[in-house]
Amino acid sequence: MELLHSGKVRDVYADGGDLLLVASDRVSIYDVVLPTPIPDKGKILTQLSLWWFDQLADVAPNHIISATEVPAEFRGRAVRVERLKMVMVECIARGYLAGSGIRDYDKDRAVAGNPLPDGLVEGSPLPEPIFTPSTKVAPGQGHDETITYDDVVAQEGPDVAAELRRITLEVYRRGSEVALGKGIIIADTKIELGYGERGLTIADELLTPDSSRFWAAGEWQPGGTPRYLDKQFLRDWSTTELREWDRTPPGPEIPEPVVEATRNRYIEVYQRLTGDRWR
Ligand SMILES: Nc1ncnc2c1ncn2[C@@H]1O[C@H](COP(=O)(O)OP(=O)(O)OP(=O)(O)O)[C@@H](O)[C@H]1O
Ligand SMILES: [Mg+2]
Repeated sequence: MELLHSGKVRDVYADGGDLLLVASDRVSIYDVVLPTPIPDKGKILTQLSLWWFDQLADVAPNHIISATEVPAEFRGRAVRVERLKMVMVECIARGYLAGSGIRDYDKDRAVAGNPLPDGLVEGSPLPEPIFTPSTKVAPGQGHDETITYDDVVAQEGPDVAAELRRITLEVYRRGSEVALGKGIIIADTKIELGYGERGLTIADELLTPDSSRFWAAGEWQPGGTPRYLDKQFLRDWSTTELREWDRTPPGPEIPEPVVEATRNRYIEVYQRLTGDRWR
């Protein structure tokens, strides 16, 4: 099999006309892959994405062909997928004010061209979920930048732009409703889409703690610090423990107790959402 691309987390192989997407145990923060793996993370994310693709199968076609027809060495962490022509936009939906959304809101009272009311603080729910696309930037070429819906229209045309927005918001609405029933707030999420046999198709991973902000519901209120069930925990660790790290490679080694705590969060999310025990 030919290795086409090694992403921050996934290795992509060509296998006949299909792709094999193999999720490693690598973890990245601020777009930097840290030197320490999180054991089982690749398997957990792969299995959680498969669960979500199943739950949301009616929203749009997805790229999954098989989770079992993969080489034995990759079993559990690999999926056979349809090879898509990727749309060069990161499709993000936000239901709460967090992350880069806060900076944009403080500056413009808007995020990605979506006007927002006064008085919101970090962690506030938005009046309704909004579509906040960003550019897709090749590794090492800097960070993704927020763009407006009109930018997506200019790049992809009005019909595709409308469909990207519809699918993204629908994934977010449906996903956050399911998650909330299981005690998890999805503050925002990113999906990737591409063109395939059935038109616009959801690719990559779906509603995972790597692609989304997950907060423990019930232990949280606006303005307070949520208990993070995602990588924010690691980002916070990296700034409190290593104030001198400038967020460029190489990233810091993660100490064993932090590895364990991070792994436990991935497992907690998997178990809460799917209702299955992680073996
Ligand atoms: N069905 C598909 N067809 C073609 N490319 C795909 C498909 N599914 C995922 N990809 C691409 O495979 C790569 C997976 O790598 P990985 O998930 O590690 O992401 P990345 O590019 O490093 O960045 P990010 O953190 O933004 O996801 C991505 O470039 C993604 O766009
Ligand atoms: Mg990815």
